[in-house]
Amino acid sequence: MVRTPTPDDRFSFGLWTVGWTARDQFGDASRPALDPWEYATKLAELGAWGVTFHDDDVVPFGSDDATRADILRTFKKAVDDAGLVVEMVTTNTFTHPVFKDGALTSNDRSVRRFGLRKLLRNVDLAAELGATTFVMWGGREGSEYDGAKDVNAALDRYAEGIDTVAAYIKQQGYDLRVALEPKPNEPRGDILLPTVGHALGLIAKLDNGDIVGLNPETGHEQMAGLNYTHGIAQALWAGKLFHIDLNGQRSIKYDQDLVFGHGDLLSAFFTVDLVENGFPGGGPTYDGPRHFDYKPSRTEGMEGVWESAAANMEMYLLLAEKAKAYRADPEVQAAFEKAGVLELAQPTLGAGETIQDLLADRSAFEDFDADAAAEREYGFVRLNQLAMAHLVG
Ligand code: GCO
Ligand code: MN
Ligand code: MN
Repeated sequence: MVRTPTPDDRFSFGLWTVGWTARDQFGDASRPALDPWEYATKLAELGAWGVTFHDDDVVPFGSDDATRADILRTFKKAVDDAGLVVEMVTTNTFTHPVFKDGALTSNDRSVRRFGLRKLLRNVDLAAELGATTFVMWGGREGSEYDGAKDVNAALDRYAEGIDTVAAYIKQQGYDLRVALEPKPNEPRGDILLPTVGHALGLIAKLDNGDIVGLNPETGHEQMAGLNYTHGIAQALWAGKLFHIDLNGQRSIKYDQDLVFGHGDLLSAFFTVDLVENGFPGGGPTYDGPRHFDYKPSRTEGMEGVWESAAANMEMYLLLAEKAKAYRADPEVQAAFEKAGVLELAQPTLGAGETIQDLLADRSAFEDFDADAAAEREYGFVRLNQLAMAHLVG
């Protein structure tokens, strides 16, 4: 058994995860809805450090100002009493039917203006509660029919909206960064910014892109058949890994939101290895929250909700222990050596070497023995087997 989590582990949960009453496309809720503060208190008991939420998870959509202030006061007190931090806040721009064609990219301009106002209002709340990350998941920004969306205009409007949010944060002097969350589909047939790479491409075009980064989710990359660990690696490389949503997914299908590690276990191992131990050859590291965005399965009652919340943290800690042992293992070090894993950090051109120098280096091409170099054995399978032995051994 692994040790119990503590706030030092910086585990955090969305209120909408444990708070999901399990209403789905085909069935009614199978669990009761508690007050938001009850979830927070219980998460703290389990050893979590932080909570995150959508505006509407705490304050019902359309509440008047007095009710809103009242609810937020109660919520804030409960979070403080439980010793939790609100590390991230996000905005619901997908539940109300007004957002059925999106918020920032709806074809209807009045909806876009409403969506933007809802976002800005929530930026104020995020700052007020001391959050440092503002996640933007545009679940309804997309289409079912290619003819229904002018994608050029939609990307212009998406960039405009994100830039406005970022500009507002700067204008107000808030200590807050925006983290975009890619997802390929669901609830829309196709969602804009479907992968980490697409989102990085958009960020590069923003005026205020310096405070805009990513919140990649395990299952979202895997729904597109992509490698989550590579996704967060590229976000890190770009200096854009602001936050992570950890969960489990088994292959290309609907968004399963399983417990972290209950999907592709080997991939989860390498995710934790990267987050905890960094790249083998050094480079940028992630030191943000370990945030879980999963859903307790519909078969579970409240006992199962808390069991599954604890399971996320337990999986992470188990994998972290194994990843530490893996890196420290002399056999792994030797396998890294043989595989050239550490050799890759060496620049291909020498210090100060020009293109002309490279062209003049006969050993690099004319006299290079490609057949001899092709003889090299990398031993990647052995290296992977060592990882496996640490994981399941
Ligand atoms: C999903 C998403 C959401 C977002 C959340 C944050 O697939 O439903 O992952 O859970 O993370 O809405 O904005
Ligand atoms: Mn998801
Ligand atoms: Mn998510």
